[in-house]
Amino acid sequence: MLASPSLATLRPLAREDRERLFDWRNREEVRRYMYTDTPIACERHEAWFEALSGNETRRYFIIEWDGQPVGLANFVDIDLVSKKAAWAFYLAETTARGKGLGAWVEYQMIEHAFNVLNLEKLWCEVLESNGAVWKLHQSFGFQTEAHFRRHVIKSDGPHDVIGLGLLRADWATVREGCRARLLSHGYAV
Ligand SMILES: CC(C)(COP(=O)(O)OP(=O)(O)OC[C@H]1O[C@@H](n2cnc3c(N)ncnc32)[C@H](O)[C@@H]1OP(=O)(O)O)[C@@H](O)C(=O)NCCC(=O)NCCS
Repeated sequence: MLASPSLATLRPLAREDRERLFDWRNREEVRRYMYTDTPIACERHEAWFEALSGNETRRYFIIEWDGQPVGLANFVDIDLVSKKAAWAFYLAETTARGKGLGAWVEYQMIEHAFNVLNLEKLWCEVLESNGAVWKLHQSFGFQTEAHFRRHVIKSDGPHDVIGLGLLRADWATVREGCRARLLSHGYAV
């Protein structure tokens, strides 16, 4: 769908990705950042995957690096009445992390939300303990709108959650700076 000369690509999820997602989602390096951090059974994954087709409130994209699938980015709760959606992402292949790819994906997902889905607001929730990610979102103009205390109970106990939101007007303010940052890291946007 969207390509950059620096080897990053986003493409829509395909049926062939079903097993890959099962593998990724059950990796410790992905699970630990999710609300559900216990392994997901095969039958539950199959049911979840099947329920995706025809669901207009969700859109999933595979993140590729140099032609290899490395992660997932998605919109959920797409609400065309209130013109908003939530989003999330992960790089399952840890070798793909720390190259600026996450920041490139964030830019592309925001652009998709406002220019393709024509939304007015993009929002997300992040574990408070995952400070690198909510700070990354803030650097793209997301504002902290909520601090939910003891909001999720994971295998190691309760966690607080940060709620962040980005309005179309917020994005207009920071977009050029974000674009310049990505260009300086070698990403075409
Ligand atoms: C979140 C994630 C996609 C970020 O992707 P990434 O490619 O590693 O991040 P980038 O290399 O683009 O870095 C983006 C910025 O975040 C910072 N950053 C990223 N990971 C960091 C970490 N673990 N600690 C501190 N800073 C970090 C980078 O320094 C960079 O800052 P800069 O733009 O000022 O240089 C990836 O780390 C991941 O998959 N994490 C696990 C899943 C997850 O937490 N998903 C979010 C759940 S809501």
